[in-house]
Amino acid sequence: MSSSTSLTLFFFFASAFLYTPSDSFNITTILSQNKDFSTFNKLLSQTGLASTINSRQTITVLALANDAVYLFGDQSMEDNKVVLSLHIILDYYDIKKLKSLSKKTAILTTLFQQSGQAKGQQGFVNVTVKDNGDIAFGSAVPGSLLDSQVIDSVASEPFNISVLHISSYIPLMNPNPSDKIYTSSSPLPAQAPNDDDYEYDEPPSPPSSSVKAKAPAAAKAAAAAPKASASKANSTTSASVINSQLDLAFAVVMSSFWLFMTV
Ligand SMILES: *[C@@H]1O[C@H](CO)[C@@H](O)[C@H](O)[C@H]1NC(C)=O
Ligand SMILES: *[C@@H]1O[C@H](CO)[C@@H](O)[C@H](O)[C@H]1NC(C)=O
Ligand SMILES: *[C@@H]1O[C@H](CO)[C@@H](O)[C@H](O)[C@H]1NC(C)=O
Ligand SMILES: *[C@@H]1O[C@H](CO)[C@@H](O)[C@H](O)[C@H]1NC(C)=O
Repeated sequence: MSSSTSLTLFFFFASAFLYTPSDSFNITTILSQNKDFSTFNKLLSQTGLASTINSRQTITVLALANDAVYLFGDQSMEDNKVVLSLHIILDYYDIKKLKSLSKKTAILTTLFQQSGQAKGQQGFVNVTVKDNGDIAFGSAVPGSLLDSQVIDSVASEPFNISVLHISSYIPLMNPNPSDKIYTSSSPLPAQAPNDDDYEYDEPPSPPSSSVKAKAPAAAKAAAAAPKASASKANSTTSASVINSQLDLAFAVVMSSFWLFMTV
């Protein structure tokens, strides 16, 4: 095989795996159908979070009605973005899924955690189903109150986007200095420290040995790709999907590189 063929293959596989189809939902359009959320909607656009939400495939937005957004008029747009990104959960949760959490409580990862600015447990929220069936959110920082109640569902497109109306904003808490597990100097966990929210699916990661495998591994990995994206439609654990996609892309790139080096 000529080296130009290898190069072509390399770019073919690289582009096939790095391409992600764009979502068809639009949070701005969803929220504009209910004028109670007009201020919240405007804030999402002003902070640029609306397009971040639209670029995701599985997401939950905790929306505040106009009577609950007073905080955001008093602080900078940058601070607004931080607090708002704490209201964007990187997975799909509708009311039904929250009510069926195995232990009635879970720690969920927010967009703020992904910004890299969060300290300690700041970037996570705790959701708990109370005995009377009420669902409450709060910061996952130890000692935080869980006083943002879910009022109802604004919209849901299983399993892509869920918009839940909550009663009050989740405040950004100072990480507890006595929390010895995650200090600012030790690395944060890549995902929520418990597994409660991963009960729906868990797409298997391709074996890492494929990285070392011979050239046909590239073809195999390519064949496995449609499978991975099909299970994604079912997926509610965006982190593991991204991981398996990255694993695949990495395997393919490495195999192509191996091909290139040996011809
Ligand atoms: C839902 O997500 C899947 C992949 O996770 C994507 O293919 C599909 O286009 C999304 N649907 C909508 C309506 O965004
Ligand atoms: C979402 O909808 C708004 C208003 O309807 C529009 O301005 C924006 O371009 C849309 N975004 C995308 C990604 O389609
Ligand atoms: C969420 O907070 C409640 C109340 O503080 C606590 O009992 C529960 O264990 C927390 N959930 C998790 C998963 O840590
Ligand atoms: C979706 O999940 C269900 C059960 O959780 C499973 O039976 C089904 O095979 C999954 N579909 C895909 C496309 O992964």
